[in-house]
Amino acid sequence: MSKTRIAVFVSGGGTNLQALIDAAKRGEIPSGEIALVLASNDKAYALTRAAENNIPSVVVKRKEFETQLAYEEAVKAILAENSIDMIVLAGFMSILSENFTAAYPKRIVNVHPSLIPSFCGKGFYGLHVHEAALAYGVKVTGATVHYVNEIPDGGEIILQKAVEIEEGDTPEVLQRRVMEQAEWILLPKAVEMVAARLQKGQ
Ligand code: GAR
Repeated sequence: MSKTRIAVFVSGGGTNLQALIDAAKRGEIPSGEIALVLASNDKAYALTRAAENNIPSVVVKRKEFETQLAYEEAVKAILAENSIDMIVLAGFMSILSENFTAAYPKRIVNVHPSLIPSFCGKGFYGLHVHEAALAYGVKVTGATVHYVNEIPDGGEIILQKAVEIEEGDTPEVLQRRVMEQAEWILLPKAVEMVAARLQKGQ
């Protein structure tokens, strides 16, 4: 049975991409292979991680297209050329509309750094999520891996893990703890679950 071909979409540091690469090397993603990294900007350190691991990569910038539709059609064409079966949004900061998400039902997963439905949706991304959790004063936060549909952070939840907030946490310290204790563990697990389902043609 051929492996599920996975494209990982990135915008920044790419530590979640690294967690996937490391898990794959340990044999923890037997049903899938990371076949492509797609970055929203050419400064993303995630591109260096892809190059170091001989994973093909491509940069597609939203601003180079006149419309959202033209941008999404260009991304779809790249995915088709690379026979991609499944998409992982790993710190991908560009918006994808229903035109795109509806083309890959239950084939796009996202990692979000909170326990959805808290601190999610429009405006909640990256460090802002942790700033909001600390400002609210919650004592527990975490991460969620979910399917992506047309509602921002609104798709079916696949896995979640809680992380304690500690006295004196800054957004940066909390972000790192949520990554270490939740995101980097959950994302490879969820990716294998989905890749295995798709490999079976389900
Ligand atoms: C991660 O914390 C990820 O959960 C978050 O951005 C960070 C990317 O880090 N994603 C979102 O906020 C999406 N709404 P990385 O580039 O090192 O993986």
